[in-house]
Amino acid sequence: MAVIGQDIYYAKRLLEQGELVAIPTETVYGLAANALNTRALARIFEVKRRPRFDPLILHIRQTDELPLWVEHIPATLQKLAEQFWPGPLTLVLPKRPHVPDLLTAGLPTVAIRVPAHPLTQALLQQLTFPLAAPSANPFGYVSPTQATHVAKQLGEQLAYILDGGPCQVGLESTIVGWDDTQCCPKVLRLGGLSLEALEAVAGPLLVQNHSSSRPAAPGMLTQHYAPGKPVFLSLSEALQHYQAHQLASIVLSEPLAELPIQHQLILSPSGQLHEAAQRLFAALRQAEQLDVQAIVAPLVPELGLGRAINDRLRRAAARQASRFD
Ligand code: TXA
Ligand code: MG
Repeated sequence: MAVIGQDIYYAKRLLEQGELVAIPTETVYGLAANALNTRALARIFEVKRRPRFDPLILHIRQTDELPLWVEHIPATLQKLAEQFWPGPLTLVLPKRPHVPDLLTAGLPTVAIRVPAHPLTQALLQQLTFPLAAPSANPFGYVSPTQATHVAKQLGEQLAYILDGGPCQVGLESTIVGWDDTQCCPKVLRLGGLSLEALEAVAGPLLVQNHSSSRPAAPGMLTQHYAPGKPVFLSLSEALQHYQAHQLASIVLSEPLAELPIQHQLILSPSGQLHEAAQRLFAALRQAEQLDVQAIVAPLVPELGLGRAINDRLRRAAARQASRFD
């Protein structure tokens, strides 16, 4: 069973030996390995049960190391990196030849970010290599935002979990690439950095956060981010299949009058979307533990981090939709 602690030197030693270590970031916990060690990379795919076509994110120390890994950087994306790194932004750029193909799943591009969490920053400063890290959850499941979430699902397969407390952002990073035809940035995954914040720096963006069998970011399959119980976006739909006492809810600020109060999880009593984002994934896990059959999670306002929250809720509910169709 994995040890949970805060020893970056122990984490460093394990990573140097090609072992996996779970690391805290400001978005979600990552399952990290030496990004230049293909055997360690292969182990990430194995532990996560992640298909090899789904590439990993490269985590680097600081913005000025970007040219070591990518061929060129459009000026607007450089501006985004300077403005938002360290932070919940991932950039997809043309990779240099020494970036392992296993990391990028054979794509000519690599996804890169500079994480903001102080423990992981301190760890990266100690290392002579960057870290590859997907979210530290089994493929298709909700991302972990606390060390105990990682321990519960992957603890048996890991030696060490670096505990940085609950993640401050709580949603995965926003992924931005470049659209060659329209010559502008393109959002490939909505996440912990809002469109409004990005557009204030980069001007209008394309958003291609599609979910299909061949999504723009290969990990963006519909039916992702799903907890172990059915999720419904609407109470009336849930009530067609279950009785009120069989349901839990996850709501922004107001409980649903029709359901027992002890089964309702409130994300932010004052209706703050950043607070709701912080708590969302823990709430999905908590709701799964309650003595209920299914979860009702109504969409939140579609602005700021609300867009990414709604994206995750729609994906969590998609499995349901297909089961009852
Ligand atoms: O916040 C985050 O981004 C967290 C923390 C740990 O950094 N990581 C994370 O990794 O969410 P993961 O592996 O769960 O999601 C990475 C996403 C996947 O959907 C993958 O398909 C996409 O990034 N991706 C990676 N490389 C790509 C590329 N070259 N082009 C397009 N999408 C890419
Ligand atoms: Mg993930």
